[in-house]
Amino acid sequence: MEITLTGITTTGTPHLGNYVGAILPAIEASRRHDVQSFYFLADYHALIKCQDPAQVHRSRLEVAATWLALGLDIDNVIFYAQSDIPEILELTWIITCVTAKGLMNRAHAYKAAVAENLADPDGDPDKGVTMGLFSYPILMAADILMFKARKIPVGRDQIQHLEMARDIAARFNHLYGEHFVLPEAVVDEKTAVLVGLDGRKMSKSYGNTIPLFEPEKSLRKLIMRIKTNSLPPEAPKDPETCTLFQIYQAFARAEETAAIRARYAQGIGWGEMKQILFEHLNSRLSEPRQRYHELLQTPDHIERILKQGAQRAREHSAPFLAELRRAVGIRPLG
Ligand code: TRP
Repeated sequence: MEITLTGITTTGTPHLGNYVGAILPAIEASRRHDVQSFYFLADYHALIKCQDPAQVHRSRLEVAATWLALGLDIDNVIFYAQSDIPEILELTWIITCVTAKGLMNRAHAYKAAVAENLADPDGDPDKGVTMGLFSYPILMAADILMFKARKIPVGRDQIQHLEMARDIAARFNHLYGEHFVLPEAVVDEKTAVLVGLDGRKMSKSYGNTIPLFEPEKSLRKLIMRIKTNSLPPEAPKDPETCTLFQIYQAFARAEETAAIRARYAQGIGWGEMKQILFEHLNSRLSEPRQRYHELLQTPDHIERILKQGAQRAREHSAPFLAELRRAVGIRPLG
């Protein structure tokens, strides 16, 4: 059966942009029976960006609770934490030893960090660059290669990492025989990129996000803060350049969107549109929000689910790692 795999970095609190762009399509895909899917919390990846233990811990809990609250089908997919699979880190070292340093030098995230350092003419190019950041793509390659996943649904920013995983796998196979499946990025061009409070892409790095499970009152407040232009209520308005419309469209059915588009053409007041958007989001999110808060109250339940997932995942990773160790010459002496 075809194997797919999705990694979710556990940093920060999931927001509407994550929901529309990544979580919703992945949860829908989790119900497919023609593929075996692996979904995991990339919590060792989180250590690269965050060295506050309380925040690392909290984010693992929030991200796991979010996916469960939204209906991830955990009987059908294998759902686990990366940190519960020790074989992934052993594999990381094994493939680190076949990865060219020059390949890692070309990684966008690393290059961006160096370029930023060099913006200061006296700057140290390596300032703030840990080996974790530098080796990030190798850990990601291990996540994927460990489970022989072929199709990896990712955002555009991850395409280079998938190419690197392929390169690493091919190099290993060349040296030690055909052990790894070469993975491919699957980029869904149709998934919406949501705009944030200030009209730029909704992103943690711009601080313009609306958290997915914000309590009702502050959800309303955030929506009231979304930037609009100063046209009077009766003036016809362009939905395509309007943040309120963009968000509404991402959550609404086609007929609902068409009806609102017609209202824009007639002229709709911003206050009224904000109210419509709030009510629509709130009705969509209130049920999973309640489940989310219940899940946060029972972290040991979530932990059990993750441990069960890890057990299923290790049925694959443990024998495969044993095979790989033998392949590189780490095997009993007698
Ligand atoms: N790097 C990915 C991101 O930031 C998360 C991730 C880690 C991942 N390991 C993965 C995604 C393996 C797909 C496959 O979005």
